[in-house]
Amino acid sequence: MFIQVSTRLSSPFIYGFGETEHPTYKHDLNYHTWGMFSKDQPPGYKMNCYGVHPFYMGLEDTADAHGVLLLNSNAMDVTFQPTPALTYRTLGGILDFYMVLGPTPEMVVQEYTALIGRPVLPAYWSLGFQLCRYGYANDSEIEQLYSEMIAAGIPYDVQYADIDYMERQLDFKLDEVNFPGLPKLVDRMRGEGMRFIFILDPAISGNETDYSAFDRGIAADVFIKYPSHLGGNIVWGKVWPDLPNVTVNEDLDWDTQVEKYRSYAAFPDFFRTQTATWWKQEIKDFYDKMKFDGLWIDMNEPASFVHGTVGGSCLGNPLLENPPYMPPLESKQMGLNHKTLCMNSEQTLTNGKNVSHYDVHNLYGWSHTQPTYDALLEVTGKRGIVVTRSTYPTSGKWAGHWLGDNNSSWDQLYKSIIGMLEFSLFGISYTGADICGFFNTAEYEMCLRWMQLGAFYPYSRNHNGKGNPRQDPVSWDEKFTEASRDVLNIRYTLLPYLYVLMFESHTKGSTVVRPLLHEFVKDKATWDIHTQFLWGPALLISPALGPGVTVVEGYLPNARWYDYHTAKDVNMRATKVSMITPLNHINLHVRGGYILPWQKPENNTFYSRKNPLGLIVALSDSGTAQGSFFWDDGEGIDTVGGNQYLHTTFSAEGKTLSSVVVHNGLVAADYVNLGLVKVWGAGTVKVTGATLTDYEGLPHSLYVQHNTDTEELIIDATSKAVPLHSPFSIIWRTG
Ligand code: GLC
Repeated sequence: MFIQVSTRLSSPFIYGFGETEHPTYKHDLNYHTWGMFSKDQPPGYKMNCYGVHPFYMGLEDTADAHGVLLLNSNAMDVTFQPTPALTYRTLGGILDFYMVLGPTPEMVVQEYTALIGRPVLPAYWSLGFQLCRYGYANDSEIEQLYSEMIAAGIPYDVQYADIDYMERQLDFKLDEVNFPGLPKLVDRMRGEGMRFIFILDPAISGNETDYSAFDRGIAADVFIKYPSHLGGNIVWGKVWPDLPNVTVNEDLDWDTQVEKYRSYAAFPDFFRTQTATWWKQEIKDFYDKMKFDGLWIDMNEPASFVHGTVGGSCLGNPLLENPPYMPPLESKQMGLNHKTLCMNSEQTLTNGKNVSHYDVHNLYGWSHTQPTYDALLEVTGKRGIVVTRSTYPTSGKWAGHWLGDNNSSWDQLYKSIIGMLEFSLFGISYTGADICGFFNTAEYEMCLRWMQLGAFYPYSRNHNGKGNPRQDPVSWDEKFTEASRDVLNIRYTLLPYLYVLMFESHTKGSTVVRPLLHEFVKDKATWDIHTQFLWGPALLISPALGPGVTVVEGYLPNARWYDYHTAKDVNMRATKVSMITPLNHINLHVRGGYILPWQKPENNTFYSRKNPLGLIVALSDSGTAQGSFFWDDGEGIDTVGGNQYLHTTFSAEGKTLSSVVVHNGLVAADYVNLGLVKVWGAGTVKVTGATLTDYEGLPHSLYVQHNTDTEELIIDATSKAVPLHSPFSIIWRTG
């Protein structure tokens, strides 16, 4: 119950370990200890929260990087010392270390995900903007919001229903009083190109008289119990589900409400094969009543509103509940079972071996994720997306992650970037925080800045807690609506680029939200930057993160950078830059040498995907650029494994842009044609024409527009019906 090992570190530059809110991306090694134990704990300083990732990346003075995983599922902590050194203390298991040797930071993540599993390829629509709140009163409120979003012309793909849609918060039971029209509304919205995601919690109420989820769960023996020598009964907790026939008085204090209204809830043991089968069946039966496109799984730390079990005293060895050595966990004085199950509960692994919850607590969310993903795929016949709260190494293979119940405060805005950078290291690419914050009232300027930053979260969802004023983009004023529309239009324009990054993450393990140090590791100035980040190698995001900020102090590493908004070379590199950032502006820079695919935005991706494909060709100092394009139907299951996709590469050099088709497995319905090609850094000598040569060798003369001030050249191939799945080249000429 206490295993300790210390090591010297090869340098003081250490990143990772989680899930904990960290004030900086690069760790401070001056005697800091971080506890790790999955917990229903909102992000807060030194508070262990939802997931556990005993993984770090070390960066040496030579700029060589390596990664270290301690594959151990017990409660643990790590202490940094300035030596530099690191001490691990774990409460069980074995010291099972894995090292990946980089030597670049990007290769560390590629090697780490080769080990634990590559990130899931999300459905294309799940890259669209999403709206949610806890506390929608009824289905009309959702319908009304949908209409307002359409009227405002703000791009948006996914609407959620939180536990409000459930009858008394019971999984798989629709609230027929307040949400009777939901299935119809979902059908209507899906008919208009929208998508719907529902929440599911693991805990199942045992106080119902006729509740198939519980009854069939009992029949299949899926719930967590005490071991037989302790009686073998279900270890009851309490979560959201309410007892039948109660009128909830929300004015009572929380503990009284939990005691009076919450029902006894049983926790499925997702390690057992029969549990996955049972879970899938419940999801399938629910889908027959109401359609959905993705699933949001929550409270899977597992969270309970009572400590250990109802009544409070856990059976069995008290040392497991209160071990002699306790890591510095939130409420550590309350024992390990604070807000979760008794550690003496028994779980059964697939191989039939029984283990104590004590040893596998950190794997609960992990074990919940694959069965949910498998069920989603099987039930919908599409790949959709699963978003999970509790994660462990490998979770990224099946799901994305939001950073949990954050606060509507400015500090949480910048810390969300650190959270995403860390999850990039952990092999989970589809991440983001609740835009505008979950707890408390969002303030106007903060929420607007958050909409701008959130437009560059891979998982871009505005989500609000119960009882707070609205904070969605149509709940403020015209200026807010406009700023949200503008920035989301930029997101939607760049979704084809984001999708390429997701493909590369899925196939090669590259990061999507990328720390600057991954691209410019030789430049030590990048080693502690966490207020700016990249999408892949080529898009730099420098958001405003504080009240009253109108100038962002950012850094431009050594490369050619174009201002996304003006297409102009900013002519600054390897230097700090004061970026003028009025309220309606977010700083975006495109790196010379890269080609980014884009599409004109529409209300949602069902429509934007039909637009011609544009390219931004941002030329390097030597007039070259490279890029690629990945396309499939956006939602098919394993289109990559099944070869049902298109992958092309582009390169530009000496006034020629050409494409190479690396893989062509698209079906006709998903063909896409070339549209506008924007060449940035095209020079000041007037370009007078361009010719496209198609795959049959036929020349087409293209319309060009060259602004010799901004040096942007626009070449229009829209009318030529040039398919991306055939190679082409374009030559432009001066004089
Ligand atoms: C948890 C989730 C939050 C959700 C709420 C109600 O607090 O983290 O996102 O809204 O439960 O389901």
